[in-house]
Amino acid sequence: MTLDPGGMETRKRRHIDVCLSEDVDFQTVTTGLERYRLPYNALTQTDLGSIDLATDFLGTRLRAPVLIGPMTGGAELSGTINRNLADAAQQLGIGMMLGSQRIMLDNGAASSTFRVREIAPDVLLIGNIGLTQLTPDIVPALVEALDRVNANALAVHTNPLQEAMQHKGDTDFSGSIARLREIAGTIGYPVMLKEVGHGIGAAAAAELVDCPIAAVDVAGAGGTSWARVEQFVRYGEIRYPALAEWGIPTAQAILEVRRELPGVPLVASGGIRTGMDAAKALALGADVVSLARPLLAPAIESPAAVVDWLQRFIEELLICLHGCGAADLAELRDRGVSPM
Ligand SMILES: Cc1cc2nc3c(=O)[nH]c(=O)nc-3n(C[C@H](O)[C@H](O)[C@H](O)COP(=O)(O)O)c2cc1C
Repeated sequence: MTLDPGGMETRKRRHIDVCLSEDVDFQTVTTGLERYRLPYNALTQTDLGSIDLATDFLGTRLRAPVLIGPMTGGAELSGTINRNLADAAQQLGIGMMLGSQRIMLDNGAASSTFRVREIAPDVLLIGNIGLTQLTPDIVPALVEALDRVNANALAVHTNPLQEAMQHKGDTDFSGSIARLREIAGTIGYPVMLKEVGHGIGAAAAAELVDCPIAAVDVAGAGGTSWARVEQFVRYGEIRYPALAEWGIPTAQAILEVRRELPGVPLVASGGIRTGMDAAKALALGADVVSLARPLLAPAIESPAAVVDWLQRFIEELLICLHGCGAADLAELRDRGVSPM
């Protein structure tokens, strides 16, 4: 048995290194959230100390509408990262996604880097697999991997652009919608479909109208560009700048998915960096927000560093609700946003 099938562990480690050392943000594309203003109300009737950020998502109560985005698992450092993120999520009462569990399917020893349930008994914990790997023959092993980490749900990431940029990436997406439809309805875990930072927009959302998925995470453009990360990993430089800047900006993706799927539980992610970004995304129609790369360095440091980062973010979100006269998330949605 090889301990690093397909060099997956090495690649995961390179992703972490590149995300920490290179400028992997979109260079020209923005989330589009800066084009909206949250309405400020000088006569707010709210008490900042009583603002309620709590919400239910995929059957779990969250103290704030925030999920830690999936980042890693498998490589040795990943265990530390996942445990520190989970510890912070438990302290803050928010949710957490694990990185792709593909490595667990081939390498039992990798499981330990995903094991966080003991540290985070109450968090909404979402497992992860790529859409191209989601075939009927892996379902038993995938269910076992989800059971083993005690996940509440499964996120399936669809990432055709990332895979196309990757050396020996999985580039055959034919039949993937049909497989998603079949497996999402039978796997026994709620399934959320997500991108990785290039965005789920109207065309993809239209395919999901009759699909038994439990949620969508738009993972739009404007934050980390995975077409950029993969070029740094593969070539040490950006060879295809236009591809690195391709995607559906997060604000646009939220509006398009909401229009196609009005009732679907919706995560806004991709370039969410501040409490104000979060407030605008929630006012535009998302139910919760998620962020990944800003938490990578704090997660390597300590649980306290992650808590510190997220507490500041949540504090800013609280002040946003207060300043627009919203006592809770439903009222924030009612306030909406206005174009700049
Ligand atoms: C180091 C790192 C590893 C990631 N690995 C995964 C993964 O395994 N599965 C996944 O669905 N998304 C993965 N992502 C993508 C993020 O979850 C997120 O969708 C993307 O980075 C955009 O969000 P951001 O701008 O807040 O970083 C990863 C992101 C980072 C920074």
